[in-house]
Amino acid sequence: MANDIRSAIDFYERHPISAGIIKAKLMAARGSLENVAPGDLFPHDQDHYGGLAANDALAERAQIGPGSRVADFCAGLGGPARYLAHRYGADVTGIELTPARVRGAAELTRLVGLGHRVRVIEGNVMAVPLPDESVEAVVSQEALLHVPDKARTLSEAHRILRRGGRLAFSDWVAHRPLSPADAELMWAGMAATNLYDIASYTKLVAAAGFTIIAVDDLTTDWAEILKVRLSMYQKLRGETLAAGTASGHDAFYESYVRFVELVSDGILGGARFVAVKP
Ligand SMILES: C[S@@+](CC[C@H](N)C(=O)[O-])C[C@H]1O[C@@H](n2cnc3c(N)ncnc32)[C@H](O)[C@@H]1O
Repeated sequence: MANDIRSAIDFYERHPISAGIIKAKLMAARGSLENVAPGDLFPHDQDHYGGLAANDALAERAQIGPGSRVADFCAGLGGPARYLAHRYGADVTGIELTPARVRGAAELTRLVGLGHRVRVIEGNVMAVPLPDESVEAVVSQEALLHVPDKARTLSEAHRILRRGGRLAFSDWVAHRPLSPADAELMWAGMAATNLYDIASYTKLVAAAGFTIIAVDDLTTDWAEILKVRLSMYQKLRGETLAAGTASGHDAFYESYVRFVELVSDGILGGARFVAVKP
C-alpha cells in the first residue's frame, strides 16, 4: 500500500501541469500577474474531464450553496475547490497527497484572493485530517482511481459528513476486467489502481453507510472528450518533437493512448456517484 501511494505522488510530482506552468501561461497571455481573477485560472487548473460543467454537476447534486462546508478529496492544484468557492460561495477544504500540488494550490489560491474560503491541506483521503461530522458535502473529481483502499476512503467521507450531508464524485470504472498487461500499463503510466465496475463500486458506497441517490455512467461522454484531448496532445507532442524540445514522459503517453482506446472500446470508463449520509 505504501508503494501505491508513492506511485501517485511520483506521478503528480512530475505532472506536466503545475502552478508554475499555469502562471507562465497567464503571464504570456496578460503580460502581468496583477489582479488575476479566479475565472482567469479556470481554463488551466481543472485536472479532470468535462471542465467546469463537471463541477456544476457535483455541486448541484451535493446541494452546495453559500456557506456550505465542503471537503474536496484529492484536490490537486485546487481548481474544483476554487470554482466551488467562487461560483457557489462554499467554504472548501481540499485534501491532497502530493506536497508539490499542495504548495501549487496555495500559490494559485493566493494569486486570486480566495484564501478566506479555500485551503488545500496535505493529507491522505484514506485517513482524512478533518473532524467527525464537520462538513455538509464531500466531492471528488476523477481521482480515487489512484487510491488503493476505496472502502476506507468512503468510510472517511461518511465519518466527516453531517447527517443528511452528501457525497458526489466522479471516478474511473472498469466495465470489464483489464488484461494483466493493460492493468500494468495503467498502473505504470497513470498510477491507476484497484478499479471496480459500476455495480461493485455502488455496493462499496452503500457498504460505507450511504444511501445511493444516483449513479450515472459517463463513459460515452468521456470517450468523446478523450478523443479530442488526445488529438490536441498528439499535435502538441508532434510540435515539440519537431522543435527538438522535450516531448513529455513516455510511460504516460503510451498508457494514455491505450487508456483512450480502452474507454472508446467500453472496457474502461467513468461514472458519477451521488449518495447521502442518512
Ligand atoms: C487527476 S488529479 C485530480 C485533481 C483535482 N480533483 C482536479 O479535478 O483538478 C488526482 C489528484 O489526486 C491526488 N491523490 C492521489 N492519491 C491520493 C490520496 N490517497 N489522498 C489524497 N490525494 C491523492 C494526486 O496527488 C492528484 O493531485
